[in-house]
Amino acid sequence: MIERILPEELKLGMYIERGFRERIINGKKKVDYIYNILVDTEEKLQKLKNSQLRYIYINTEKYIEIRPEKPKVEKKPPPEPIIVKEEEEEEEEPPPPPVSFTEEIKKAKIIKEESVNLVKNYMEDVSLGKSLDSEKAKLQVKNIVDSLFRNADALISLTRLKSFDHYTFTHCVNVSVLLTSFAKKLGYNRKKLERLALGGLLHDIGKMKIPDKILNKPGRFTDEERQIMKNHTIYGKEILDRTEGIPEASKLIALEHHERYDGGGYPYGKDGSTLGQDSLIAAISDVYDALTSKRVYKPGMPPPQALAYIKERSNREFKKTLVDLFIINVGVYPVGSLVELSTGELGIIAEVNRDDLLKPFVLIITDKLKRFTKTRELISLYEFREKRIVGFPEPEKYKIDPNKILEESVKY
Ligand SMILES: [Fe+2]
Repeated sequence: MIERILPEELKLGMYIERGFRERIINGKKKVDYIYNILVDTEEKLQKLKNSQLRYIYINTEKYIEIRPEKPKVEKKPPPEPIIVKEEEEEEEEPPPPPVSFTEEIKKAKIIKEESVNLVKNYMEDVSLGKSLDSEKAKLQVKNIVDSLFRNADALISLTRLKSFDHYTFTHCVNVSVLLTSFAKKLGYNRKKLERLALGGLLHDIGKMKIPDKILNKPGRFTDEERQIMKNHTIYGKEILDRTEGIPEASKLIALEHHERYDGGGYPYGKDGSTLGQDSLIAAISDVYDALTSKRVYKPGMPPPQALAYIKERSNREFKKTLVDLFIINVGVYPVGSLVELSTGELGIIAEVNRDDLLKPFVLIITDKLKRFTKTRELISLYEFREKRIVGFPEPEKYKIDPNKILEESVKY
């Protein structure tokens, strides 16, 4: 399997298929490549670690066990303490320093799992008629916001991994991540981001007051059922009103995430002139995640198609300037999209390239004649200039699940 790692993750015995670094020389970007190197000596290892290579692709099948001359004891830094900030304290905590995608994705996976469990527990409490304790959620949103500051792409990419069984909970976490990362791009401060993240996590909590037979109905709703379903926004606001310590900004997300820019939404049919920016971006995030999710009654829409669907409704259902920014935030080609390259090969977007959104990292899964290959190669379209994205075939056409393939083939 080909894995992408950072230079500091290199170890003795690893086989480098390819690596590259970028340098600015006389104002121009220059890219240097290295190919096919077995890291067989300590000297070579140190040299490569200090080489300022940006990414390295190693072939795990060509790994050879080499014992270091002097075994080095690696010191692990102590786990980061969770700082609990007092509500009254208005001073801003400095954001954590940025880290690489590879480093963050491990933490992001844990944060996502914890968040899904948290939402699940909160929803269960509501359906049992228990009152909610907002403190746990307030701590968890700090973790979400911190992760987004360290490397937003990590949590965003995980919104592509949908859980079929836990749709309601996973959807809440995905909306929280999409909404908060989007607001971060718009320059919101930490405190505001935490309020939005909390609003995202709890935005559908009112669904727990909808009768089960309607909430879990596998088919289309009747008009009457749809009317009942729409009440989840009002119920959500009421539940959060009764919960101590929930900021108004978070409650508004629950109440207004189905309102539309042109006034065609619910519960009140407010429009762009009275809706705040938070509600407008919540609406886009909510629809994007709902469209791309697979449900009992529908397949998940591929991300580029979902973005096109939202874009088509710019300045009607959704505010255009926000839609354009949303697309930049999730990536023109979001992680998990199936793409066809100019060479004829099929690939899956494995990672967004923030330096050049049109040249993401792609996992190649077929040859030029669209025959599935045994080994899958992860390439950067930035590096392979001759390969361009020319189409977005339906994954169903090839009977594949891009997310599953990514999970199997790419170790983040
Ligand atoms: Fe909703």
